[in-house]
Amino acid sequence: MGSKKKTLAEKADKFLCYQKSVQSPEHEVDFFEQAFRDAYGRKPVTLREDFCGTFSVCCEWVKSNKNRTAIGVDLCPETLQWGRDNNLSKLTAQQQDRVRLLEQDVRKRNRPQVDILAAQNFSFWIFKTRSEVVQYFKAARANMNSEGIMVMDMMGGGDCYTEGQVDKRTIKKGKKGFRYHWRQHSFNPINHDASFYISFHFKDGSKLKNAFEYHWRFWTIPEVREMLEEAGFSDSSVYWDMEDEKENEHDDDWQLLEEAESAPCWISYIVAKK
Ligand SMILES: C[S@@+](CC[C@H](N)C(=O)[O-])C[C@H]1O[C@@H](n2cnc3c(N)ncnc32)[C@H](O)[C@@H]1O
Repeated sequence: MGSKKKTLAEKADKFLCYQKSVQSPEHEVDFFEQAFRDAYGRKPVTLREDFCGTFSVCCEWVKSNKNRTAIGVDLCPETLQWGRDNNLSKLTAQQQDRVRLLEQDVRKRNRPQVDILAAQNFSFWIFKTRSEVVQYFKAARANMNSEGIMVMDMMGGGDCYTEGQVDKRTIKKGKKGFRYHWRQHSFNPINHDASFYISFHFKDGSKLKNAFEYHWRFWTIPEVREMLEEAGFSDSSVYWDMEDEKENEHDDDWQLLEEAESAPCWISYIVAKK
């Protein structure tokens, strides 16, 4: 019997699809520079990427300047290994030397301390109680230089609370193209437990269904700012995504705001000074 032809989903790499759909490391690096300049009027040198996954932001960071070093922290050996094989391997030897990986819990304290401590893609929402988040924020603060900032992204808006809502985007066009689906599966208004699934749909009808799943507490900006204060951070501010106001939708423009429009779906950054 002839061997069955593999579907596009069977041939796909879920981490590669994820990186292409969700991450834009160059934008992260630009934003870290903007936020650090606003805080201290100079360029940051050292980065710690908590919940780093395949640590593409660390790789972009060391590429952006020859003095920059990055520490990536994640619990998952498989994800870190994918990053070594597919992201780290694309760097020069000199750049690779400036990336350090720690397979451990983000709540561990390490040296050296860093200028930028990043916790991206809502990852700290895995901590569902105030005490767990405050414990994490205290550790993160201890891992930062005295002139350091912590950067985390947030999302919100009415659409985020609508069960079954699916955000669909075409990531790659053409025969090998695929679409990204972000599904708000469930939301419990009593305790803010929320589940989300990422699936990838391919041209031949095949799917990587629920390739990634997240079971989080849906935290809000004021709660997070209060917990940062409780953990000892001296100040926090909010940068709002102004992309809709610009002609080129893909050019992010982050503005420091105290008041924003109640959009059905928004993203923002919280930046906290040690
Ligand atoms: C939502 S993914 C984020 C990946 C990446 N930061 C990004 O922006 O795409 C969450 C990652 O956090 C890791 N993780 C979850 N809990 C952790 C913990 N307590 N300490 C370290 N890593 C953790 C998981 O292994 C996973 O790779």
